[in-house]
Amino acid sequence: MKKHILLLGYGTVGSGVYEHIQADQTLSDRVEVVRIFVKHPESRVGLPHFGCFTKDPDGLFDGIDLMIEAIGGTDPATSLIEQALRRGIPVITANKEVMNAHFETFLSLASLHQTHILYEAAVMAEIPIIKTLHEALKHGRLTEISGIMNGATNFVLSKTMNEGIAFEQALAIAFDNGYLEADPTDDLFGLDAMRKLSILTKMTLTTKIDPKDILRIKVNVISEETRALFNERHWVLKQVAEATKVEEDVRLQVLPVVLKADHPFYGVDDENNIVSWKDDKGVTHALQGKGAGKIPTAKGVISDLKRWLEGIPYQIDIRYDHLKATSSDHLLIRWLIDISWVLFPKAYVNQSIGHLILTHPMSFHELTPYLDRIRFIAKVGFDHA
Ligand SMILES: NC(=O)c1ccc[n+]([C@@H]2O[C@H](COP(=O)([O-])OP(=O)(O)OC[C@H]3O[C@@H](n4cnc5c(N)ncnc54)[C@H](OP(=O)(O)O)[C@@H]3O)[C@@H](O)[C@H]2O)c1
Repeated sequence: MKKHILLLGYGTVGSGVYEHIQADQTLSDRVEVVRIFVKHPESRVGLPHFGCFTKDPDGLFDGIDLMIEAIGGTDPATSLIEQALRRGIPVITANKEVMNAHFETFLSLASLHQTHILYEAAVMAEIPIIKTLHEALKHGRLTEISGIMNGATNFVLSKTMNEGIAFEQALAIAFDNGYLEADPTDDLFGLDAMRKLSILTKMTLTTKIDPKDILRIKVNVISEETRALFNERHWVLKQVAEATKVEEDVRLQVLPVVLKADHPFYGVDDENNIVSWKDDKGVTHALQGKGAGKIPTAKGVISDLKRWLEGIPYQIDIRYDHLKATSSDHLLIRWLIDISWVLFPKAYVNQSIGHLILTHPMSFHELTPYLDRIRFIAKVGFDHA
């Protein structure tokens, strides 16, 4: 008897998952998508499986063995996930926003009702980071997680820095390729990377995270002068998300960072992502791959589906809740900034590099009075300029 699947959403991800199941006989012999919940079922007239589409929430879970959520956002995703878990129905989700917002609740509900919530596709879908970190946790604690976690921003920065394409034009190319939303704020402002970092941190270090404590700085327009200086010095600019355990604190940041060629993230270009983590023996590990898009994301969902069918879903039950995320606003950081010399106190200046200023280690808090006059800002990710 085939397992019955309820699919929520039939957009980029939902349709990708459906098509993958149909095309893979080893799956379609074992599972059947019997219901697809969407906003506009009428727009699917003509599809051979039109009869599966519904917008009616009544009876949604009747006869269902597994739910796949690819609606996005938090409403109605939160309530539908909770309803499924309360009925003991396992859930696979690609939705980082809802997973980050309700991580603990979903895991507790799954455990209480002896079922599972699987979310590989929610965090850089093509990189099997959730399963890998789960395995890593069996062998010891982690002390650090960092990475390039937003492919769209990385694409824009690579095009600008490596190929000399103007920042606005690089944004337009990223949009045309489907990497970037019409409103790129979530990507450039680090919200998307923050959600992924936050899920990984909740899974491996602590669930006690207040989003206010995550230091985030927007990747801003890069001038031709700044780009030329970076090229001359063989530097790159990357949006780096990192969580670091310092004694009982966890510090989280999503910042534009200047890197040199000896950094492991240096050559990770275009829409590629990388995640790196350090274990308690000080050994660094990394995984690299593409993060988003119809096929990679569907693959992430399918990989969870296969694990569930094989009876080996991962269950995260190892966390260190004595740790607490604390604000990174007061951490001392060396910054590279573009600001008029007359507007910036000399006491903070370490040296000038072309038209930019390299600061002494100083907190973001100390920088805030000057922010509206700073044209470019990045954390310096190496010791010697
Ligand atoms: N796209 C990617 O590359 C990617 C990568 C990783 C993760 N994700 C995540 O995957 C999820 C889905 O993304 P997507 O790109 O596939 O989104 P999408 O293309 O906008 O599709 C959303 C689907 O959900 C349905 N839907 C939305 N609101 C609904 C509601 N209130 N009731 C019923 N159905 C509703 C829509 O129905 P209609 O079609 O009838 O309007 C549509 O089929 C998001 O959480 C996203 O963050 C996406």
